[in-house]
Amino acid sequence: MSDSAFHRRSGRLFAEEVALEEVAARYGTPCYVYSRAAIEGRWSRYCEALGDRGQVCYAVKANGNLALLGLLAQAGAGFDIVSGGELARVLRAGGDAGRVVFSGVGKGSREIRRALLAGIRCFNVESGAELERIAAIAAETGTRAPIALRVNPDVNPETHPYIATGLAESKFGIPLEEATALYRQAADHPSLDVRGIACHIGSQLLNVAPLREAAERVRELLDTLQALDIPIEHVDMGGGLGVRYRDESPPDPADHVEAILPPFTETGVEILIEPGRAIVAEAGVLLTRVEYLKENGARTFAIVDAGMNDYLRPALYDAEHTLEPINTGAGRPLRPLDVVGPVCESADRFATGYPLSVEAGDVLAVRSAGAYGSAMSSQYNARPRPPEVLVDGGQTHLIRERETVDDLMRGESLLPGG
Ligand code: LLP
Repeated sequence: MSDSAFHRRSGRLFAEEVALEEVAARYGTPCYVYSRAAIEGRWSRYCEALGDRGQVCYAVKANGNLALLGLLAQAGAGFDIVSGGELARVLRAGGDAGRVVFSGVGKGSREIRRALLAGIRCFNVESGAELERIAAIAAETGTRAPIALRVNPDVNPETHPYIATGLAESKFGIPLEEATALYRQAADHPSLDVRGIACHIGSQLLNVAPLREAAERVRELLDTLQALDIPIEHVDMGGGLGVRYRDESPPDPADHVEAILPPFTETGVEILIEPGRAIVAEAGVLLTRVEYLKENGARTFAIVDAGMNDYLRPALYDAEHTLEPINTGAGRPLRPLDVVGPVCESADRFATGYPLSVEAGDVLAVRSAGAYGSAMSSQYNARPRPPEVLVDGGQTHLIRERETVDDLMRGESLLPGG
C-alpha cells in the first residue's frame, strides 16, 4: 500500500498526489510526512483479515498524533495504550474508551484511576503487585476493574534484543506457570472482573512462527482456566509485525492474523491484536536536507539537518533505513556517504557508506519513518521537534506544528533575582 502511496514521477518522489519537494518548501526540514491512504489501507488489511473474530487495537505508542488517532477512531479502531497521556490523546481524538486496552509494566495509581473512571475495556496486568493495586483502586472508586493478565510465554521472537519482550528474562509479563494461581485470586476478588489473557512477545518480527508458538501456549492456559470455571472472553495477542525498512520481506497483516487465529478456532473467544508499526511505519517518511558535504580523511560525510533527537531509531537500535533523494539528479555519480546529523554524539548517524548522489541543499527522504519516529523525538541539544504533515490525495494538512524556541523553555523559570 505504501509503495503506491510513495512513488516517483519523472524522478520526483511523491506522497499520493503531492511532490515532496513542495512539502519541504512549504513546511521546511526536518519534517515528517504521512500518507492517509497508506495508513487507512494498512488498517483495513488488518480489519479484513480479522473479520468478526475480534478487534484491532492500534498501539498508540507507535505514533500518537491526534489526527492519525482521529482517522483510526472514525474507522472504529480500538487502541492499546501504555499511559494516562496516551489515554488522554485517544479520548481527545474521539476514540471510544470501551475499546481501549491498557498495557505497560508500571501503571501509576493516577493512571489506573483515570482509566477506570473513563471505562476502558481492559487492563493488561503485568504482576501480582499491580493486580493488587488495581483491585484496591477499583474498590475505592466503587467499580470493578476489567482485567487480563499479560503472560510471558517464553518464546524467542527473533528480533533486536531491545524490542524482544517475550523471553523468560524480560521485565514484561507474568511467567505462564504463575498465571493460573493469580487468575484464581483475581476471579475470587469482588473488585476484579476477569476478562481475558494478554501476551506480546516483541516487535519488528519478520517471521510469524514465534507468534503461532505463543498463541499455542496461550491456548493451553485458556484450557486450564476454562477447566477451572474461570470464564475468558478474549485473548489479546499483542502487536509486533515487522515492516520493510531496507530490504526485509515482512509478512503481511493477513499472515499475522492467520498465525494467531488457528489455536483459538472453536474456543469462542474474541481475539484482540495490537499492531502499531505495521499500520504507520511505511506510511511515513522523514524529510531532511543535506547541510554540508565534508571530507574527513577517507570518509565523506553528508551532514543533514535531522538528528537523533528527531529520529532515534538508528542511534538506539542501529536501525538501517532506505534513504533516497526526493529528486534524483540527472547523471550524477553515486558515492558512498556517511549520513550523519548535527547532534553532538557519534551515534547521531543515519547510515555508513550509503551510496547516494547528493549535493548540499538536496533533500533526502528517510523511508518507513512513520512509526516510533515523531513519537520518540526529543529536544536534545535544544532542538525544536519537527512538524508532521498528512497528505490526503492532493492536499496537505499540518497536523503538528514545528516547535519554537519558546516551546523549548516552556514551564522553566529563572531563580528569583537570577
Ligand atoms: N503491544 C504491546 C504490549 C507493546 O509493548 C507494543 C510495542 C505493541 C503492542 C506494538 O508493537 P508493534 O506492533 O509496533 O511492533 N521503539 C521500538 C519499538 C518498541 C515497541 C514496544 N512495544 C522501535 O522503534 O523499534
